[in-house]
Amino acid sequence: MSVKLLFFAGSARKDSLNKRLAKAAMNKAIEFEAEGTFVDLKDFPMPIYCGDIEQQDGVPDTTKQLAEIVSAHDGVFIAAPEYNSTITPLLKNTLDWVSRLKTGGGDGVPPSTPWQGRYFSIGATSQGAMGGMRGLQTLSQTLINGFQVHVSPKTVAVPKGSDVLTEDGQVTNPQTEAMLSGAMQHFVSHSRALKS
Ligand SMILES: Cc1cc2nc3c(=O)[nH]c(=O)nc-3n(C[C@H](O)[C@H](O)[C@H](O)COP(=O)(O)O)c2cc1C
Repeated sequence: MSVKLLFFAGSARKDSLNKRLAKAAMNKAIEFEAEGTFVDLKDFPMPIYCGDIEQQDGVPDTTKQLAEIVSAHDGVFIAAPEYNSTITPLLKNTLDWVSRLKTGGGDGVPPSTPWQGRYFSIGATSQGAMGGMRGLQTLSQTLINGFQVHVSPKTVAVPKGSDVLTEDGQVTNPQTEAMLSGAMQHFVSHSRALKS
């Protein structure tokens, strides 16, 4: 059964290391026979969430476009840069805006957001020795508690990202390759299982 997986980074930066990680994860998932889509959040600019903006102007078109892409996939991989031990404002803002597009519900069942019903895998990279892994705890909590989704326990943290990940998503070090391979094998198989 085919499985469609979405990959993005919580950074819009041109030279983002986390975009490299998202591309490397996608390349690896494709080796495990997944269909992969990479999106760049710089193509989906959204204002900082404010209830007044939502009330006056509604949810931005960019949010709707991204939500449509999310909904067309069975799993989502997020490469999340660490800012001050947590996730970036860009990533949190994107997660929040998309979560405003609730559908369904009724008869005691709460409506669901586009994030729901998908399997998640998360990772991080930085030039530091920890690879940005502390921000992943926050991200995991947001996904599990906020969106009630399953998150892979095989998180990926890649220290010295610019030394081991190329711009087109190749991995140049065997340890990183092995970690990413294990994580993507799990991500592909669990996304497929959740779909069936
Ligand atoms: C405001 C800010 C806070 C940061 N805080 C941390 C941090 O707590 N831990 C860490 O390892 N790196 C931290 N960094 C470094 C980023 O993780 C690093 O620049 C990373 O490469 C950014 O991701 P990107 O390359 O995908 O844009 C911080 C960077 C900024 C701009």
